[in-house]
Amino acid sequence: MPLNPQPSTLNSAALPRSVLVVGSGGREHALVRSLVASPARPRLICAPGNAGIAGEVPCFPTAVDDIAGLVALAQREKIEFVVVGPEVPLSLGLADQLIAAGIPVYGPKAEGARLEASKTFTKEILLKHKIPTAAAGFFTAVEPALAYLRSRPVPIVIKADGLAAGKGVVVAQSPAEAEAAVRDMLAGNKFGAAGSRILIEDCLFGEETSILVVVSGRDYVILPTSQDHKRIGDGDTGPNTGGMGTYSPAEVVTPELLGRIEHEIVRPSVDAIAAEGIAYCGTLFIGIMLTPTGPSVIEYNARFGDPETQVVLPRLQTDLLALLWAAAKGELAGFKLAVKPDYALCVVIAAKGYPESFAKGDVIVLPSPSSLLPSTVIYHAGTKHNAAGQIVTNGGRVLGVTALGATLREAADRAYAACEKIECASKYYRRDIGARQLHRS
Ligand code: AMP
Ligand code: GLY
Repeated sequence: MPLNPQPSTLNSAALPRSVLVVGSGGREHALVRSLVASPARPRLICAPGNAGIAGEVPCFPTAVDDIAGLVALAQREKIEFVVVGPEVPLSLGLADQLIAAGIPVYGPKAEGARLEASKTFTKEILLKHKIPTAAAGFFTAVEPALAYLRSRPVPIVIKADGLAAGKGVVVAQSPAEAEAAVRDMLAGNKFGAAGSRILIEDCLFGEETSILVVVSGRDYVILPTSQDHKRIGDGDTGPNTGGMGTYSPAEVVTPELLGRIEHEIVRPSVDAIAAEGIAYCGTLFIGIMLTPTGPSVIEYNARFGDPETQVVLPRLQTDLLALLWAAAKGELAGFKLAVKPDYALCVVIAAKGYPESFAKGDVIVLPSPSSLLPSTVIYHAGTKHNAAGQIVTNGGRVLGVTALGATLREAADRAYAACEKIECASKYYRRDIGARQLHRS
């Protein structure tokens, strides 16, 4: 199958000399950190970046949805490789446009990004290829959806079809809540076009884990396991967020279970995507529920997870640039990944009020790197410089504090020591990242 065609002027054995990272979150800061550390010493730039990324590489103020602007930037800066962080530019066809301009890219074309942008598209593929996933019905009208609801037990899950920034999923605990969610999405137009089609899906029970897979056509490399804490509050309470903290490895995914996940989910997913005619090059992020009867797919994302990336990348011994480049060049077969034995843990510092409304512009004073415990790094997410040159909050998730340690406890202690040293009036973070695993062992 044709993968992203690459310009013939580049020597496939050589790594790219100049790289553009697209995005502005903690995920992109982690990508930049790992790519800067490549022995190939590429020239790196980022668009649009944030205050932390700007401290490491030149940043350009091109927005992630300005596809023509990003392609022009890559051309102007003679970029040889683009690594795309977020889903929005991918679903808007950034990879398609870069490939058309002869610039190699890591990240799927728009047809591949549909695996994240459309939940019904993904569900149809999962069901057709018999990949374990919850049973579901598809609806565009209220009455048939309500009739289907009456035939299913609660809890039941209602999902808007399109990208809804993590807010298009309701796990309804009662028939009344389910009916309200259906009406909100289909009749209330709460999610615009994203909600004009919905899925009603059986509820899965168990622990969630995310498996990040670097995919290139039918070849793939599974990255180290991780688990995210999605709820805003300690003890996994309160509303869902983009992710409040992560740790890696996720020991709930034993080597035996990972083998089963690869056999029942990863390999079949990669094959199914290829069989559907999608030449996929990029990260396939598989959200999995570990149910009592086995692993089951909750969703695909077409990108690295955030904050999963902040614990997975620091554990790689392998040169990230070599890995992503091999994927883009269609040379991933046989790629061997080297992983550090360390544990990694990331605590997300959010702005008070997130995931609802929160203030921006609060001054952040960071501890000097020399005052941090070993193996601790502060990734920036929603930060920027104000007119006075101070670092200020500029988003809901502000920083990701990651530490490595010989044990998960050591990683947690190091990360939390740094969290305490960060000064910011609106700082909020969970105190129990990793608790699930710390209490298990
Ligand atoms: P998604 O946007 O598909 O990742 O869904 C967001 C969150 O909703 C997931 O991370 C799960 O916590 C929850 N969720 C989604 N689908 C299901 C399901 N079928 N059963 C239980 N929880 C679900
Ligand atoms: N942390 C979940 C995500 O990146 O979607």
